Amino acid sequence: MGVERTLAIIKPDAVAKNAVGAILKAIQDSGLRVIGLKMIQLTEQQARGFYAVHKARPFYGDLVRFMTSGPVVVAALEGEGAIARWRDLMGPTDATKAPKGTIRGDFGSDVERNASHGSDAPETARVELAYFFNAAEIQAPVEALP
Ligand code: RTP
Ligand code: MG
Repeated sequence: MGVERTLAIIKPDAVAKNAVGAILKAIQDSGLRVIGLKMIQLTEQQARGFYAVHKARPFYGDLVRFMTSGPVVVAALEGEGAIARWRDLMGPTDATKAPKGTIRGDFGSDVERNASHGSDAPETARVELAYFFNAAEIQAPVEALP
């Protein structure tokens, strides 16, 4: 599998709950590295574009409203098998079914307000990272300083 990069979004519900630090800590405690980070307010156009794969779904309009309801934190993560590891740490989409100890179990509310997003495959990770970060905004930190 090797070292991968993936996109995490801390969604507006979790930002409003003041859970940004707790979620970033859980990410780092899992061994994943944060190599890009910013807080932004998505425009309607950005949210519609980001979730365009769901545009025919009945929940699309609600999802776009939710994702633009307040600021989000977007993070680029790196690590061995990062895509699956971040999705495992998030837990299932429906926060009411997510176990405690997962991000969605601890900070989400329901199937929509589920605290976080994670890319689902290498190609989507590449496209989603480029959606929010240019090359200068992603850092590859050294393992440790002498
Ligand atoms: P994400 O893309 O945000 O990481 O979530 P996911 O892969 O676990 O779930 P996905 O099927 O891609 O759905 C994207 C987001 O849409 C909202 N949703 N609402 N009302 C509903 O039935 C419903 N289903 C999904 C959630 O915010 C979900 O994360
Ligand atoms: Mg998805």
